[in-house]
Amino acid sequence: MDREVLKGIPLFSELSNKDLEKIGQVASKQRYHKDNLILIEEEIGSTMFVILSGRVKISRISDDGREVILSILSEGDFFGEMSLLDGQTRSANVTAIEESELMVIRREDFLQMLRDYPQIAINLLKELAQRIRKSDEHIKSLSLQDATGRVASTLLRIAEDSGVFRRGQVEISELPLQQDLANMAGTSRETISRVIKSLMVQGYLKKEKGKIIILDYEKFKSIFSR
Ligand code: CMP
Repeated sequence: MDREVLKGIPLFSELSNKDLEKIGQVASKQRYHKDNLILIEEEIGSTMFVILSGRVKISRISDDGREVILSILSEGDFFGEMSLLDGQTRSANVTAIEESELMVIRREDFLQMLRDYPQIAINLLKELAQRIRKSDEHIKSLSLQDATGRVASTLLRIAEDSGVFRRGQVEISELPLQQDLANMAGTSRETISRVIKSLMVQGYLKKEKGKIIILDYEKFKSIFSR
């Protein structure tokens, strides 16, 4: 794989051209269409992935059959590392939510990379630390907040992951479907629509051409990020 493609990936940041060249030699590319299942929970893992383009959702199915979305990952993010590191089965399902191109690395090559390039291991640990922080926030919002708080926290999570910040506002485009939002917030579709309407009436949000705009991000965050 071309080293220029690898240069922009945070996991490989600070590596020399020579090292990127070597990494490119052990990686391959795979394309997935929208709604294709990439990884299945409980299966044995033998590869990890880096997203070159597109977006995927990480989800699990609850005991009563509902889907819970743990995260949405996009260009530059990686997944599938957990089962390679701890030898257990896949911890979640991963599905393409857009046409996606992925870089695929086999288990032995990935583990050898971590031994050969400590910088990759440090970059990986940094990202895992951030994922634990996000999960902690999520658990807090699920256990402590009412429906409005949970929907608002979910919007903040999406804004921080993929929002466009401009003059104090955040534009969230390509917002997940209301059902996806509900699955992220741990609530129903009806509640999502009711809460978004109420946040609009209260002047916190605006809808524009399929986008949701948080009108004053700092204020929104200070009120709902508790
Ligand atoms: P693995 O368990 O091999 O397969 C499923 C992948 O989903 C997992 O590796 C992680 O890469 C990813 N994953 C699981 N939980 C989360 C989470 N809370 N946030 C982001 N990614 C996750």
